[in-house]
Amino acid sequence: MKKKPRLISWGATTILMLFLSGCFYDEGLPETPDDNNVVSYEFDIQPIFTNHCTSCHPVLVSPPDLTAGNSYNSITNGVYIIANDIDASLLYQRLLGNPGIMPPSGSLPVSEIILVKSWIEQGALNN
Ligand code: HEC
Repeated sequence: MKKKPRLISWGATTILMLFLSGCFYDEGLPETPDDNNVVSYEFDIQPIFTNHCTSCHPVLVSPPDLTAGNSYNSITNGVYIIANDIDASLLYQRLLGNPGIMPPSGSLPVSEIILVKSWIEQGALNN
């Protein structure tokens, strides 16, 4: 009769170990940026600016300065990009044509607009 509580406690220990190893397995899964769809400012966003915007936006024609090395500071300390708020992000709105389309020659590919949107919704990080 005295052995029964011990059996139960071994059972509980086994269940606890299975539970913990399950958690450990989950945390051991690889977490690369691609798996989490984390948008990179350096590798995803700046190339869009460099390809489509910097011919006019090293402040030559108009602010903001979108050249590599300057762009992050020039768009995140004002009204151009507001982290987690696409409606208030003037630069994002200009990509949609509100109030006028940027670049002026025509809309960016949808996939690139979605990248900018995701980046803002992920906190507009300098990553
Ligand atoms: C052919 C030149 C040209 C290109 C390329 C261009 N822009 Fe512009 N942009 C302008 C001009 C001119 C203005 C000012 C007039 C206006 O607001 O429409 C402007 C204004 C803006 C503004 C508003 C500035 C303010 O303070 O109100 C934003 C934001 C902007 N551009 C973002 C972009 C982005 C992002 C790209 C690339 C996807 C881009 N532009 C490409 C010429 C350009």
